[in-house]
Amino acid sequence: MAPGPDPALTGRRFVVTAGGTREPIDAVRFVGNRSSGKMGNEIALAALRQGATVTLVTAAPPPASQPGLDVVQVETADEMHRAVRAALRGADVLVMAAAVADWRPREAAPGKLKKGAAIFTLELVPTVDILRALRDDDAAAGVLRVGFAAETERVVEHARTKLVEKQLDLIVVNDVSKPGIGMGADDNEVTVIDRDGAAQVIDRAPKATVADAIVRIIATHLP
Ligand code: CTP
Repeated sequence: MAPGPDPALTGRRFVVTAGGTREPIDAVRFVGNRSSGKMGNEIALAALRQGATVTLVTAAPPPASQPGLDVVQVETADEMHRAVRAALRGADVLVMAAAVADWRPREAAPGKLKKGAAIFTLELVPTVDILRALRDDDAAAGVLRVGFAAETERVVEHARTKLVEKQLDLIVVNDVSKPGIGMGADDNEVTVIDRDGAAQVIDRAPKATVADAIVRIIATHLP
């Protein structure tokens, strides 16, 4: 059964990111990834069910509008970074469920590039790492930071490294090499690791159920 409001979340505000950012090549083409935005949307809905208000910063289609939910639609990593910074004012929790593109085309052509017979080489430059940039950003001071980690090998070890390096309070680890879970799928199975190294496994279930469990864990880590 879905949980009702949790007193620990009453009056709290979550900022949740979702979806895969799209980095423009030209007016109609982009560099993107397979993220559907489902996990981020379900975290936002779970936080609402459990009594928080939510700003969802998303590069994917959002859930239907409802009380307590603010949606900020973005496209690129840069836009997501700016929107997250703005939304963090007065927030209690940041959950970075978005699959932020790691590279973007160095230049985006303003019009539609014409197809030529020649090979087309795209030069990619790194995007901003939003969580890393927030480490020394006053906008994120006092906010509980939750990251996601998509891994294919040495899953827990790599996630622990990310938690330390990005100075997170919690990290939610997805083994994206397992079929039927994670990016684009309806189900997920994750491990949530905290700063003390304690790991909690959330067994395979629909993303809404997994999201409820993640939000319950987040609630226990709020000051
Ligand atoms: N993230 C971010 N900004 C980026 C890339 C990722 O804020 N430019 C966030 C994601 O939203 C996620 C966490 O960092 O919460 C980890 O993302 P992941 O893709 O697993 O790791 P990366 O840092 O991109 O490292 P790598 O791809 O090398 O594993």
